[in-house]
Amino acid sequence: MAQLYAMVNCFQYPRMSIRMTLSSPLDSRHRIQCHVELPNLYAMNGGEGPNSYAQNSSYHLCIFRFKHLSRNYHAVGVPGPFHGRILPEASLDFAYCSCTLNWLSEVPKEVADHNSPAWNNGKVHYTEARQEVFDAYSNHYASNIAAFLDARAKELVQGGLMALLVPAVPAFKNYGTSYTTPTEMDLIDSCLVDMAKKGRFREEKVDSFNFPLYFTIPEELKITIARSDSFNIERMEILNNPGKRTLPRANARATYLRAVFEGLLINHFGSEIMDELFELYAKKLAASPHFLGPDNEKSIIIFVLLKHN
Ligand SMILES: C[S@@+](CC[C@H](N)C(=O)[O-])C[C@H]1O[C@@H](n2cnc3c(N)ncnc32)[C@H](O)[C@@H]1O
Repeated sequence: MAQLYAMVNCFQYPRMSIRMTLSSPLDSRHRIQCHVELPNLYAMNGGEGPNSYAQNSSYHLCIFRFKHLSRNYHAVGVPGPFHGRILPEASLDFAYCSCTLNWLSEVPKEVADHNSPAWNNGKVHYTEARQEVFDAYSNHYASNIAAFLDARAKELVQGGLMALLVPAVPAFKNYGTSYTTPTEMDLIDSCLVDMAKKGRFREEKVDSFNFPLYFTIPEELKITIARSDSFNIERMEILNNPGKRTLPRANARATYLRAVFEGLLINHFGSEIMDELFELYAKKLAASPHFLGPDNEKSIIIFVLLKHN
């Protein structure tokens, strides 16, 4: 039987046209033949223009290789959160999950609860928030990773491999001279607070919004994975974030961040404030002595290769 590979949320490409046809007859794994039609241009330079990351995404590399496969391949699209089961039992030989595990299944309940010591009032993320807020995020992350590993353990065959690319931060930070994705989110926080003070919306709007994201550190991820009885770590490496040199200008960075977070922010604050928010964000970036220095960006990606035992 052919080996089955799964890319767990490996690619999305808003401008791509995908035509999917069911193979006939549908086999037990519900295989679908997938024909992908792509534009020929992949110049993803910066955060502007029709082919930019901001308007598309980095998945083009993956899709580009896909397109050049000469033989037929099987693909299946399964909707649903990957913290639960998405594929049949023992159906995978290899799984790959890239740059998604920093997204939590939801905002930890405590941080939005007025009566909890972890209530995150006046802030929208855990960076520089109280310890209780950080702990709520960290505990939620640990239980999400456990659920993810549990689900994949059921879907992988015994001895199957899983590669993860996990967005993370270094254990030691220096807020004065360096920044990471969470510190960029902190800058969004400060823009929202400024706008609330100017009366663009009520300050409680900031209290009740929190980003459902968490950026682990290597040691924490190792400990979290080690708690799983189903997987052994075969290899773990810290990759230097390859995207860090691509967006050196404030407007491009603001457009990139807007592409990532605008959906979440619109749901809570409404679309009317988005232009002002990201203009303010770009201004704050441009005024910062360290945000636009590519060498000051210290976010990392952790590569982990796991074997299902
Ligand atoms: C930064 S993109 C990474 C995309 C792609 N894997 C790559 O490496 O280029 C993060 C993706 O994770 C997806 N995602 C976040 N939480 C998810 C969940 N619980 N289940 C499935 N997908 C999720 C988001 O919808 C988004 O498409």
